[in-house]
Amino acid sequence: VTVNKPAKPLLQALVGERCGRAPWWLMRQAGRYLPEYRRVRAQARDFIELCLSPALATEISLQPVRRFEMDAAIVFSDILLVPHALGQKLEFREGEGPLLEAIEEGADIDRLTQHGALARLDPVFETVRRLAAALAPEVALIGFAGAPWTVAAYMIEGRGSRDFFRAKAFAYRDPVAFAALIDMLVAATIDFLAAQVEAGAEVVQLFDSWAGVLSEECFERWVIAPTQRIVASLSRRCPGVPVIGFPRGAGAHYERYVTATRVTAIGLDTTVSVGYARNRLQPLATVQGNLDPALLLVGGDVLARAVGGLRRALGGGRYIFNLGHGVLLDTPPENVALLARLLRQPIEVT
Ligand code: CP3
Repeated sequence: VTVNKPAKPLLQALVGERCGRAPWWLMRQAGRYLPEYRRVRAQARDFIELCLSPALATEISLQPVRRFEMDAAIVFSDILLVPHALGQKLEFREGEGPLLEAIEEGADIDRLTQHGALARLDPVFETVRRLAAALAPEVALIGFAGAPWTVAAYMIEGRGSRDFFRAKAFAYRDPVAFAALIDMLVAATIDFLAAQVEAGAEVVQLFDSWAGVLSEECFERWVIAPTQRIVASLSRRCPGVPVIGFPRGAGAHYERYVTATRVTAIGLDTTVSVGYARNRLQPLATVQGNLDPALLLVGGDVLARAVGGLRRALGGGRYIFNLGHGVLLDTPPENVALLARLLRQPIEVT
């Protein structure tokens, strides 16, 4: 008996089939810009507890999909749960973002514990299972992790930064210790993503939010090589599972990133030219992006024109509509509702 599985537009776009309109989701689509998120958030002691509560995290993941009917839900968790699982102290202070007990030398890396680490993230896999059971048949489920460079950068810096100079200096000063940290993160990331897929995630995205601060040589060593290993290992452990790479700020390295890592799809940040994306990247992979999240602060015709332009330029090929970075905190939900209406229209390609 062949069971006719309902087609999921997002998965179709990832294998290069078209469905007449661009499937879409938004990075950071769940979060504080939604009043219903803030209400659930208030029920948890802190952000880590929220991420590790399957009931709350499932509800939060579903909120934007319920409201705006995206083509995918992304499991609600955080890229910094991996260092948390490895035993690094992590907290999120209200309005301050993440604070970690910064890694200062190689000995701090040796103290992290890989053994059994992933069991601490079992609640995330339970959330994935609940989401897989709850989602409508045409909605895809995305799992994710931070890419090793970006996660290592937070682990060394101990907090957010604009340039991650301390992390870069560590890598130049002690490349052997830094490589040990990257190796540990490659292994943990493969396990973390494979466990999400085994629990029901159908696609995974690797967020390399700080790929753009590296020199060419460091980009090759700390972004390309680890990503290549993760993609290769996942394709063995979870054959056929598409991987979306998002090397934010990679600029001129985007093309090399796609060909070397063999990701299925490439997330474009806001600065990538659509001409370049169409001519150089789309022939190699599905492209995803790259509406400026600031346009969602504005809405109206300004938003509509930008969405139309993007869809006309990229909608003729393999394409997933998304932002060039995450939804901003001050985004009026009405503007996301307008975006959803615009994206339901069929595409006219130029
Ligand atoms: O996309 C989604 O809806 C899924 C959930 C998700 C979160 N973080 C929830 C979150 C995802 C995919 C992330 C990824 C993430 N986390 C990245 C990569 C993407 C990017 O934005 O570049 C990074 C760098 C992090 C680390 C992180 N987590 C930071 C720097 C912060 C503080 C900044 C902020 O927006 O508050 C967080 C906290 C965080 N992660 C929140 C949410 C909803 C806000 C926490 C709160 O409710 O107080």
